[in-house]
Amino acid sequence: MKTLVITGAGKGIGEAVVREILRDPQKFSENGLLPRMLLCSRTEADLLKLKKAAEAASIQCEVLALDLVQAPTAPIEEAIRHFGRIDQLIHCAGVGRFGHFLDLTQEDLKFTFQTNIDATFLLLQSAYAQMKKQQNGQIMVVTSVAAEVPFKQSALYCMSKYAQRGLIEVMRQYAREDHIKITEVRPGATYTPMWGEVPQSQQDQMMQVEEVAKAMASVLLLGPSASVEVLTLRPVGGDL
Ligand SMILES: NC(=O)c1ccc[n+]([C@@H]2O[C@H](COP(=O)([O-])OP(=O)(O)OC[C@H]3O[C@@H](n4cnc5c(N)ncnc54)[C@H](OP(=O)(O)O)[C@@H]3O)[C@@H](O)[C@H]2O)c1
Repeated sequence: MKTLVITGAGKGIGEAVVREILRDPQKFSENGLLPRMLLCSRTEADLLKLKKAAEAASIQCEVLALDLVQAPTAPIEEAIRHFGRIDQLIHCAGVGRFGHFLDLTQEDLKFTFQTNIDATFLLLQSAYAQMKKQQNGQIMVVTSVAAEVPFKQSALYCMSKYAQRGLIEVMRQYAREDHIKITEVRPGATYTPMWGEVPQSQQDQMMQVEEVAKAMASVLLLGPSASVEVLTLRPVGGDL
């Protein structure tokens, strides 16, 4: 039986992917995916709501509320402990601190890099090692259009996203030999809790998180011979 792990599952893009899967779980099971998943984020209450919804859809669901900075490989270890394997990892957990280049602090740098770079590296390394043993697996990582386009106010965020992209591109050099699919998802502005309070006029310029999730879920449904290597999604009107 297949096992899916989603980080950042409690809110935003990660939550929307879970809800997209739960909208029509049969579509996924018919394609040999599920019926087991492990959801990770920091806030347990977010995860327990999703667990209830998953179990109502006959999907076995474990939750792991922790900070990936403290335990970056725990989602993989827990998935193996509960289910014995991991077939898909969708890594959505990520953070951003924004401000003028001259105002960003060393603490902002540490906060951003610990999650987006350090924890991402260790999590992906751990997932990859298990998938290599299985000679099969799929990893999807949400970077950003900020992994390819520089934005003012985003010096640290762009640095961390360019770094994630670098890691993914190196991993893909190995992954092609090991029959592991790696997809980098590069969304543009998507309305999620990450943005905090924003005026309606700005929300209207962003993508709806459900649309981003729909595109990501469709990548999971692709057959075994093709891999979506980069999935770029932008608001119809372009970057904000
Ligand atoms: N929204 C956008 O416009 C946009 C655009 C491009 C790329 N992205 C990227 O997409 C990813 C998801 O963003 P989002 O907008 O969905 O953010 P979000 O709404 O803030 O949700 C982020 C999720 O990740 C979890 N998380 C964050 N840091 C974590 C950590 N250290 N350990 C464990 N869980 C952690 C959060 O858990 P808690 O809430 O429990 O802390 C939350 O469930 C990020 O990598 C972001 O950079 C977002």
